[in-house]
Amino acid sequence: MASTAITTLSGGLVSVQASLQSRSKTLGLNLSCSKSVSAIRGLKVASNVQIDSSFLGKASNSSLWASVVSKPEEKQVFSSQLQPQASFKVAVLGAAGGIGQPLGLLIKMSPLVSALHLYDIANVKGVAADLSHCNTPSQVLDFTGPSELANCLKGADVVVIPAGVPRKPGMTRDDLFNINAGIVKTLVEAVADNCPDAFIHIISNPVNSTIPIAAELLKQKGVYNPKKLFGVTTLDVVRANTFIAQKKELKLIDVDVPVIGGHAGITILPLLSKTRPMVTFSNEEVKELTVRIQNAGTEVVEAKAGAGSATLSMAYAAARFVESSLRALDGDRDVYECSFVQSELTELPFFASRVKLGQKGIEAFVSADLEGLSEYESKALEALKPELKASIEKGVAFVHKTAATAAST
Ligand SMILES: NC(=O)c1ccc[n+]([C@@H]2O[C@H](COP(=O)([O-])OP(=O)(O)OC[C@H]3O[C@@H](n4cnc5c(N)ncnc54)[C@H](O)[C@@H]3O)[C@@H](O)[C@H]2O)c1
Repeated sequence: MASTAITTLSGGLVSVQASLQSRSKTLGLNLSCSKSVSAIRGLKVASNVQIDSSFLGKASNSSLWASVVSKPEEKQVFSSQLQPQASFKVAVLGAAGGIGQPLGLLIKMSPLVSALHLYDIANVKGVAADLSHCNTPSQVLDFTGPSELANCLKGADVVVIPAGVPRKPGMTRDDLFNINAGIVKTLVEAVADNCPDAFIHIISNPVNSTIPIAAELLKQKGVYNPKKLFGVTTLDVVRANTFIAQKKELKLIDVDVPVIGGHAGITILPLLSKTRPMVTFSNEEVKELTVRIQNAGTEVVEAKAGAGSATLSMAYAAARFVESSLRALDGDRDVYECSFVQSELTELPFFASRVKLGQKGIEAFVSADLEGLSEYESKALEALKPELKASIEKGVAFVHKTAATAAST
């Protein structure tokens, strides 16, 4: 019998177990946000929902993984919880792209997925053929072009949208608006027609506008559920955790930093004062880290020198958000992620914050993150609002203008 190999792929947040035992060959993936036990212990969430004591006492999946990794003798006990439980259907729209391909691979490794549907306007057949050879439980199917989009989406539990053009050096995310708004419109309309109950994860930039666009379109179709529409801002959290762990020489597995606001430039606001574990920063460190987290996407765009924006780290972050959503759909009560969603935490109609995910989508907002901000954070929060408001209004106006044009022709 071959020995079991356990590899930790990212400070414990992503762990891959390749069991080479002859009797049960499994490959389990756990992408977890949930250092939530320590990270949000004692926090009050919105709507007067209090995190209950069973939550506080319960070990998160990442804790399980930490146990597996640190105590190999216990692996037999835990491996029974890591058997594939294939049951959910995930569709990726834009699956042949820089993000779509590695994202497809990571989702293919999830034990919670039974069907992985890959859609693109080009080159997706080869991606699906390639991925389908991985000996993990999900069945991979490819769908090319608008005539196959409906079949791709039927029955989907989670739809992830990374379709669209990425930035080149010198471009802002808003510069992508003209092309990506139309792409997101087409795809969200198809989601509304074919799987209106699905969780919708939008990666396509500018997220600050594409989410309001999607919301308006879903409203027009009469199927808008604000609890199930998500702008994917997980990469901002992933970056914040990484940079702060490096700067403060913390163990990555322990670090959790909420990132609020939006997903572009100064609208990205990492709340360093809420970092778990508790850590102190000088004023200079706060400024330096905040600016680095806000500009991290541009760091990658410039390093790639015209070959696109973040794809691998984005795929990692998007896979984490998919896995969190699937765990919530599967009944896990301890799932928290930051996301850009319809919100009442501020006067803005959409806002990124930490939310609790459940089987019906967003169950609660972690409002406590916005309480007791530092002076720097309070000022930054006020400063980001006009830009975020304008981006939201631009998205809404796009849908109304398109509808008016369609009505007059
Ligand atoms: N939310 C975030 O944190 C974040 C981070 C990085 C990139 N992004 C955004 O993600 C998007 C994709 O980036 P990428 O690097 O993968 O780009 P890419 O150009 O490598 O891939 C995009 C894919 O979308 C496909 N596509 C285009 N129009 C389509 C349509 N109508 N239907 C289906 N597929 C379509 C293309 O064929 C291509 O395969 C960009 O908008 C980028 O700005 C977001």
